[in-house]
Amino acid sequence: MKLIILIPLFILGLVLVKKPESPSIPLNERTVNSVLAELGENNRGKQPDYTMPGVSAEKGRELVIDGFTTSDGKKTRKQSKHFKCISCHNVVKEDIDLSDPDPQSRLEYTNDLGIPFLQGTTLYGAVNRATYYNGDYAKKYGDLVKPARNDIRGAIQLCAVECAQGRELKDWEIESILAYLWFIELKMSDLVFTTEELKEVLTPAASIEERGKKAELIKSKFASGAAAHFEYPPDDRKKGYEGLVGVPDNGKLIYENSCLYCHENKKYSFLHLDNSKLSFKSLNGKVGTYHPHSIYQVSRWGVPTKSGKSSYMPQYPVEKMSNQQLEDLRSYIALKSE
Ligand code: HEC
Ligand code: HEC
Repeated sequence: MKLIILIPLFILGLVLVKKPESPSIPLNERTVNSVLAELGENNRGKQPDYTMPGVSAEKGRELVIDGFTTSDGKKTRKQSKHFKCISCHNVVKEDIDLSDPDPQSRLEYTNDLGIPFLQGTTLYGAVNRATYYNGDYAKKYGDLVKPARNDIRGAIQLCAVECAQGRELKDWEIESILAYLWFIELKMSDLVFTTEELKEVLTPAASIEERGKKAELIKSKFASGAAAHFEYPPDDRKKGYEGLVGVPDNGKLIYENSCLYCHENKKYSFLHLDNSKLSFKSLNGKVGTYHPHSIYQVSRWGVPTKSGKSSYMPQYPVEKMSNQQLEDLRSYIALKSE
């Protein structure tokens, strides 16, 4: 799994100097933001401030992937003792159809790519979104969401402190992460157009109106924010979510690409889980109960910080794990503990 993620990052590492994009290159190879800018959309407020000393996309990449970087040749303090940004976020595209993100298509697509299936939305294309911490995250974080909802810098800082439970990022670190995020912005080739629509996109737009229409068409091809709805565990945990029958093969993908990603060898957690009967039995014994470690409980509510430790498990909104998928996971755990 790791190899597949590391190769593209390595290549990316070599080219982290952004060249201005010439309109003469084929549309498919262009970035969505540069095309939208030509159509009159203004994205300048999100541009990193490269005039600030120490700012670089490479340092931003290190902060996101490794959890620390260097400043004046010395290692910075780790951003968090428990996590890296990639504990909870991918950094590549994780949905085939960006206009209609769906957890089952994502599970299959990320499994094909060999990347994890996580609670946080991929950072790929984060600079293309207009709003952050949407939906029920406002309930969870309350007023803290205000400076993050419409401001990507606020979102990065909120996540560093609240999600990663780490130190505040310095200004140059935020600008560096932002600079890195501009390297993983959406490309026109990521968007799915019908033949008709593609013709429209390729036809030069003469008037302001036509340009506006074209921009709207392009923007309709990706979600302007990641939706988030929190779900309750089923009313009757013994029976599970009503009317749904779990599919163990699908549950296996969730167990291996999500649960084990953080729990195997205690990578990001104090709880070790693996493919042994012991792991499955211990989970299976609690599923249908009100035990705080029932998978219904931990998936839907997350696991809060314990006193003395600031590590916690983020919950899965339905957009990141559907009720059907949770039943699939349950059926896989039951099967493996027989
Ligand atoms: C423990 C898990 C976790 C860690 C670690 C973490 N995040 Fe997040 N992050 C989340 C969750 C959950 C959200 C909620 C919104 C979403 O992503 O759908 C979020 C949201 C975000 C958003 C807004 C995304 C959106 O579209 O709403 C950004 C940007 C972000 N994080 C950046 C970072 C950066 C940068 C780091 C590292 C410094 C980091 N995160 C570390 C879990 C985490
Ligand atoms: C992003 C990383 C991450 C993912 C993904 C994840 N967990 Fe966790 N989980 C944690 C952390 C961190 C804790 C907090 C307690 C700890 O550190 O052990 C935790 C706690 C738990 C606990 C309670 C353990 C205790 O002693 O408090 C259980 C049970 C659990 N997770 C099961 C799962 C299952 C099942 C899945 C898959 C659906 C899963 N986790 C996915 C990080 C994760």
